Amino acid sequence: MMLVPLLPLLSLGAVLAEAGPSRLPDSTAAARLALIKHNREGLLGSRLCDDDGVANLDNLQTAVSVASSKYRAGAKRVYSRTGHKLPGFSLDAFETWSKAALPPVRALLGAVGLKEKRQQATLTNYLDGSYWGGQIAIGTPPQYFDVDFDTGSSDTWVPGEGTSGYTTFNTSASSTARNASRNFAEVYGDGSLVVGPVFQDSISVAGVTAKEAWFSPINTMGASFEGSPVDGIVGLGFESLSNMGGTPFFQTLVEQGVVPNSVFSFALGEGDEGELYLGGSDSSKYTGELVSTPVVHEGYWMVQGSAGVGGYTTSKDANMIIDTGTTLVVAPPNEAAKFFAQVRGAKAFQNGYYSYPCNISFVAELEFAGVKYTIPEKYLNLGLTAKGSNLCVAGIVGQDVGIDAWVVGDVFLRSVYSVFDAGRKTVGFATLA
Ligand SMILES: *[C@@H]1O[C@H](CO)[C@@H](O)[C@H](O)[C@H]1NC(C)=O
Ligand SMILES: *[C@@H]1O[C@H](CO)[C@@H](O)[C@H](O)[C@H]1NC(C)=O
Ligand SMILES: *[C@@H]1O[C@H](CO)[C@@H](O)[C@H](O)[C@H]1NC(C)=O
Repeated sequence: MMLVPLLPLLSLGAVLAEAGPSRLPDSTAAARLALIKHNREGLLGSRLCDDDGVANLDNLQTAVSVASSKYRAGAKRVYSRTGHKLPGFSLDAFETWSKAALPPVRALLGAVGLKEKRQQATLTNYLDGSYWGGQIAIGTPPQYFDVDFDTGSSDTWVPGEGTSGYTTFNTSASSTARNASRNFAEVYGDGSLVVGPVFQDSISVAGVTAKEAWFSPINTMGASFEGSPVDGIVGLGFESLSNMGGTPFFQTLVEQGVVPNSVFSFALGEGDEGELYLGGSDSSKYTGELVSTPVVHEGYWMVQGSAGVGGYTTSKDANMIIDTGTTLVVAPPNEAAKFFAQVRGAKAFQNGYYSYPCNISFVAELEFAGVKYTIPEKYLNLGLTAKGSNLCVAGIVGQDVGIDAWVVGDVFLRSVYSVFDAGRKTVGFATLA
């Protein structure tokens, strides 16, 4: 099952805030939030690989479909909100694809009517395999949720009334909740639908609070969602990617001057514990120089970078979307082919994936702002192609996502410290401490 935004069902009024320079009161403090890595079953580890070390082929297929849906839908949203076409995005191609991929909207709504209120309200496969969950508090007094922080989307939502079985947000129990009297709706990759009222309330993360922050306590889910360890999502992308029609959470913190600057940073790393730092970068988590590269198209955190194998560049100055909400590194199919042509014994496997002999070593590199970063084999290797095989499946995969860009997810991001500056509009990387 996939659960990923395909298209906004309702045309929401665009509420575009002017992004002024951030003026900062002295009392601001950065916030440090511990993140825990989960897989879908709520266990630690990667569910892209089974217990016997074999890559989970169903989940691999889901992962590429999810990425494809997520980026096509996002590019459409950026286009509807700003008129800007992300590189390679074609509205005609989107319409053709979405007609083929989705049943008519009326049929979807009918299905929702039947299933409404009977579904458990967690989010499964919104992301494609790994979740870095952390706690947020919404309302007065606070109600707590474990959410995933996703730089590849821009809306915040948690389960609300009408969803059962999990933590739900009770709007009447919060004295600061304000009903915006409009709806938020998203259709997901498997045809399921999520709908909820748009609300504003206080949202706190690790002691910093955004007042009147936009979110949706969702009340309708059109498919079954079982086993997710996170309750909801906090999107950390730009406002132009938002489907809700309000300033995203982090930009709200910045506008209200509660964080010292417009920077947030991730340390994901090898273990199952990471850190999200709001309001700067945590110098105890990285060493050496932090090197930044400009965002080239706003909406996603899209920068330019190069890819290569063992010092040989296979893709130069490609668009690369930095996405904590995606597990894999997804390359345009021809770029993936050029990359794996440099890996001895590598060949196309299935669904855009490549296999390579497990006993060879090769150095996979991404380069940003002139600095090369190596992706360690432990993150790149998704497991064996089959039991007893001596071929492994690589975490760099070729897939058309509807725009001319790579998607750089956790396979890479675990190996670096990453810094997102929403004011200067840059992404920086440094070596993890
Ligand atoms: C929601 O909060 C209100 C006010 O505190 C309370 O009366 C109601 O029982 C709560 N609803 C649920 C489902 O807990
Ligand atoms: C929010 O407002 C709308 C329209 O004013 C109303 O229909 C809806 O029931 C309200 N939602 C909640 C959760 O109070
Ligand atoms: C890797 O394994 C293959 C097949 O078992 C073998 O032919 C090859 O020599 C091995 N290569 C290395 C570098 O060990």
